[in-house]
Amino acid sequence: MSKSKSVYFCQSCGHQSGKWIGKCPSCGEWNTFVEEVISKPSKKEAGNIDIIKSVPTAVQDITSGNERRINTNSTELNRVLGGGMVMGSIVLIGGEPGIGKSTLMLQVALNMMDKKILYISGEESQQQIKMRADRIGIQNDKCYLLNETFTDSIFKHCKEVEPDLVIIDSIQTLHTNIIDSSPGSISQIRETASQLQRYAKSSNVPVMLIGHITKDGNLAGPKVLEHMVDTVLQFEGDRHYGFRILRSVKNRFGSTSELGIYEMMSNGLREVINPSEILLSNRDEVASGVAIAAMIEGQRPLLIETQALISTAAFGTPQRSSTGFDLRRLNMLLAVLEKRSGFRISSKDVFLNIAGGLKVDDPAIDLAVSAAIISSLDDKAVPPNMCFAGEIGLSGEIRTVSHIENRISEAEKLGFEKIVLSKYCLKNLSNKKFKIELIPVGKVRDFVEVLI
Ligand code: TYD
Ligand code: MG
Repeated sequence: MSKSKSVYFCQSCGHQSGKWIGKCPSCGEWNTFVEEVISKPSKKEAGNIDIIKSVPTAVQDITSGNERRINTNSTELNRVLGGGMVMGSIVLIGGEPGIGKSTLMLQVALNMMDKKILYISGEESQQQIKMRADRIGIQNDKCYLLNETFTDSIFKHCKEVEPDLVIIDSIQTLHTNIIDSSPGSISQIRETASQLQRYAKSSNVPVMLIGHITKDGNLAGPKVLEHMVDTVLQFEGDRHYGFRILRSVKNRFGSTSELGIYEMMSNGLREVINPSEILLSNRDEVASGVAIAAMIEGQRPLLIETQALISTAAFGTPQRSSTGFDLRRLNMLLAVLEKRSGFRISSKDVFLNIAGGLKVDDPAIDLAVSAAIISSLDDKAVPPNMCFAGEIGLSGEIRTVSHIENRISEAEKLGFEKIVLSKYCLKNLSNKKFKIELIPVGKVRDFVEVLI
């Protein structure tokens, strides 16, 4: 017999309370507490997962070795994971509905020809998954599909199949009989995730979990889950564009600044190996208000287009709107341009757009954004063979940015002839030769002179 007990959980942050409360003391949200019934298993029921016997060992007696990684046969995913999937690790991949999480995972499963994969779905039937596999069009006879949401049977099947990788679509559909509340509730998510974690650690099989995102952009069933797993990836993109970005938000085995770029095609996701070429949108004729930034995302240089439109405000308060770029940063740049170079922008509407539906936070984009703004204000196009890399400080100084050599080489590779950068970068480049012309600037005023 199992004893049951009822607990209240905040559905937004996972805070636990013995009684109902209106305002969550942890995250401050109102009306988020929901009652969940937890039944404690009797001693016999528990223990369907082997407990690892471990003993304390002195640090220097432990051989570190390289953690073994599985090659996922996908350049982009390997990069985001930090060089492949670590044995026994748990990876959570989150994203909005319909963004392509199931497609990505199925494609990864089908692509890993030499490994045995168990793809467990609680969301779609085997036929539906098969239809998607046909669409992707990769044949793989070592990829097994399973329709199951009950964790005990999942572990039983895992014992039989002995997979090299387990994929769960999605964690919100799983349930265990230890807890009575419905699938997707905080306590179910917490319990099933910790069972999977024990399975991964004891069997050394990596597990990939798909997770849903709530409407405010957090992973549903939330921080608790992020703490438990080793790696959190986010799959994002603008649904109106084909591009999807796989970002690592947390990674115990690698850097979190890596980025994978995909394009959704009619036959699955295509890896975009050279993103700059598509991010520079159709450039047949030169228009004003467009400037190219030499960016770095993770370790990878990327050239992207920034577009600005400045027009006279029709109403009293001018509008400021920005897509893919922080609005506060835009306001700051506008203020610096106005103050340090005398442009009158405060009475104008300003619209800013980063092409391709990307979101950027590399400060090196400042120069390109300002160039696009000045170009639109002046109604004069930026020379098409020119690109920009530099951060603008509050006093109007152009600051240096990281990895400047990579940025310059990428611009050179894509056929640009001039790159505007901070003059303070030059001393790091003293013994390097580039074919591209470097235009160093120190202050916003010098920068404006280069443009006009
Ligand atoms: P899906 O993987 O089901 O999204 P998620 O699991 O994140 O909810 O992907 C859904 C979208 O992808 C759907 O709108 C159809 C589209 N799609 C393609 O464009 N091409 C394809 O080859 C596949 C399989 C899906
Ligand atoms: Mg799905």
